[in-house]
Amino acid sequence: MSKILITGGAGFIGSNFVRMLLLGSDHQLVNLDALTYAGNLENLADVERHPRYVFVRGDIADAAAMAKVFAEHRPEVVVHFAAESHVDRSVLDASAFVRTNLQGTQVLLDQSRAQQVRRFVHVSTDEVYGSLGAWGYFTEQTPIQPNSPYSASKAGSDLLVRAAVHTHHLDCVTTRCSNNYGPFQFPEKLIPLMIANALEGKKLPVYGDGKNVRDWIHVADHCEGIKKAMEHGAAGEVYNFGGDAERENLTVVKEILRLLGKGEDLIHYVKDRPGHDRRYAMDSSKARALLGWTPRHTFESGLRQTVEWYVANRAWWQRVRSGEYQAYYERLYGGR
Ligand SMILES: NC(=O)c1ccc[n+]([C@@H]2O[C@H](COP(=O)([O-])OP(=O)(O)OC[C@H]3O[C@@H](n4cnc5c(N)ncnc54)[C@H](O)[C@@H]3O)[C@@H](O)[C@H]2O)c1
Repeated sequence: MSKILITGGAGFIGSNFVRMLLLGSDHQLVNLDALTYAGNLENLADVERHPRYVFVRGDIADAAAMAKVFAEHRPEVVVHFAAESHVDRSVLDASAFVRTNLQGTQVLLDQSRAQQVRRFVHVSTDEVYGSLGAWGYFTEQTPIQPNSPYSASKAGSDLLVRAAVHTHHLDCVTTRCSNNYGPFQFPEKLIPLMIANALEGKKLPVYGDGKNVRDWIHVADHCEGIKKAMEHGAAGEVYNFGGDAERENLTVVKEILRLLGKGEDLIHYVKDRPGHDRRYAMDSSKARALLGWTPRHTFESGLRQTVEWYVANRAWWQRVRSGEYQAYYERLYGGR
C-alpha cells in the first residue's frame, strides 16, 4: 500500500483513475484539485466517503500551498493529471495553460524532490508530437513538435519532467496518450458535446471538413496504462498509449447520431480551428511489450457504452452545462 497524491482527480480522467484505484487497490489517495470549471466533485460522489480517500482543494502553481500539502500528507507517489486541457480555450487565451501546465508542474517536481517522493507519474498527451500526414505513427522517439498553445504547454511540462530526471535524479515516468472518451468527460470535448447536443436536438458543430483523424481510447484503458506505468515503468522513460482506433471526426459524429437514432441533418460544419492538427495515431508497442498493457475496449463497444452512459446520466451533464455542479463543493465542504 502506498500513499498517492493525485493531482486533477476531480477532472475527467483523474476521477476515473481515483475510482479505479479506490475500488481495485489498497492505496491511500489524496485528491488534490483546484476545482476550475473542469473540476467536478460530483464525478466522485459515489466514493467520496471512502476511508482511503481524502480531497484537498489547492492550486498546483501555488508553491506555498503545495509545500503545506506535501508536508501534511507526505505522499510516496505523485500521479499528475492537473492541467488546463482544452485546445480551443488555449487558442483564445493561453495564460492559464502556461501557469498550470508549466509553472504548476515545476512546483510539483520541486515539492516531490524536497519530500523525497519515490515516483512521479506525469500524464501527458500525443499532441506534443504535432500532426501526422496520411501515414505513420507517433513513437516515443518522434520529435516533440507541438502546434497549439495547449500542446506546447504540455510539451514544456514533459521537458521539465525530463530535466528533473536528468538534473536531480527524481524518479519520473511520463505517459503520452491519444484522445480519451468515456463517462464523466466535460461536454465541451468532441464526443460528449455531440451526444449532449444530439440529445437536446441542437446542431452538432463539426470543424472544417470533418476529416481530422484522432486515435480514440476508452478512459478505462488509459487509466489501466497509467497504473501499469506507475507500478512497472522504468525511471526516466516515456510510454505511449493509444486505442488503435483511428477515426475521422465526421465518422465519430455520424456513429453517435446512428446510436441515438437521430438524423444527420443535425450536423453543422463550422470554420476550422486555427492550426487544427490533421491526424494523430499512436504506436503503443513499447507499453504493450514492457508494461504488459493492452486496451480492452474496441471503439464500437466503448462508444456504445459511452452513449448509453450519457443517456442514463442526463442530470450529470445538464448540471455541468447549467453550471450547477459548481455549488456541490460548497454544499459538501462548505467554507473549507
Ligand atoms: N482528455 C484527453 O483526451 C487526454 C489525452 C491525453 C492526455 N490528457 C492529459 O490528462 C490530464 C487530464 O485530462 P482531463 O481530460 O481529465 O482534463 P480535465 O480538464 O477534465 O481535468 C483537469 C483537472 O485539473 C484541475 N486543475 C486545473 N488547473 C489546476 C490547478 N492549477 N491546480 C490544481 N488542479 C487544477 C481541474 O480542476 C480539473 O479537475 C491532463 O494533463 C491532459 O493533458 C488528456
